[in-house]
Amino acid sequence: MNPSSVVPAKAGTHPSASPNETIGIGVGEPTHTRGPTEPWVPAFARTTELRAEKLAAAGGVRIAGVELSEPLSPELKDAIWRAFLAHHIVVFPGQFLTRGQQFAFAGNFGEVEVHGAHRGEAKRYDVAHVMSNLDADGNPVLRVSKAANYHWHTDKPYHAAPPMLTMLRAVEVPPTGGDTEFANTALAYDALPDETKWRIAGLRVVFRPAFDESRAAVDHPLVRMHPETGRKALYFGNHSTHILGLPEAESAALLGELLDHATQPQFVYRHRWRAGDLVMWDNRCLLHRLVADDSMRRYRRVMHRSVVRGTVPV
Ligand SMILES: [Fe+2]
Repeated sequence: MNPSSVVPAKAGTHPSASPNETIGIGVGEPTHTRGPTEPWVPAFARTTELRAEKLAAAGGVRIAGVELSEPLSPELKDAIWRAFLAHHIVVFPGQFLTRGQQFAFAGNFGEVEVHGAHRGEAKRYDVAHVMSNLDADGNPVLRVSKAANYHWHTDKPYHAAPPMLTMLRAVEVPPTGGDTEFANTALAYDALPDETKWRIAGLRVVFRPAFDESRAAVDHPLVRMHPETGRKALYFGNHSTHILGLPEAESAALLGELLDHATQPQFVYRHRWRAGDLVMWDNRCLLHRLVADDSMRRYRRVMHRSVVRGTVPV
């Protein structure tokens, strides 16, 4: 992505916009393309204002009326990317894509991870993969293990280069429940007292998959710098085992305090899913979790998921 696109182009896209405010993110506005010998012409003739609605003070923007099953124009792709960097969570309602179309849409933003490849599985599909609460017989089941996505986490932090973004498309959703919560760890970092910022500067967190503790651990900065916006954010959550160099009890207490801080309501956006919602979020400055509730054992919840590769956190 072009680094110049990280700054919202219009005042209305600024993260300080209040929730539910309708904002324009300027798709289709003419841009100056005059070369040394050319007359001035708009970059394209059609001028369309893409409308977006901010969802919460903590982040989230809803963009309706776009069709993601088709290849994106460069202008739409750029507008989506700017909205993503400014608001961290982008919700596209009414998207009924095939798994292949979703994989292709994710590919606009980087290299899409192929599910199962890391395990050397023979089946490798260039399609979104399926996540559900169903057992082998197709019945809903609530499985709460220590690796479950009911715990606050960022996706695959136990990789040396964890994914930059994840997208889920809701295929089947419960009539109530099954919400996803997102906690903005950049806002949470900003709100820390200076003495805490000093205390945690330079600390590194050790991650190991909670579902396979035999795997090699990796460590990442507890405070990571967003590679595109330069904002600092806390990076931790489930799959983090401890902080390097701290006594065990102190490490556990600090991680617990930071989690309590970062998941306070003012830092959280809760998404209520509808079938057809496609939600993409930035793993580099958010924690998320599936809210565990009784609906998970009563109703089917089927999602299609795509993950785009990121860079080594710094
Ligand atoms: Fe997740």
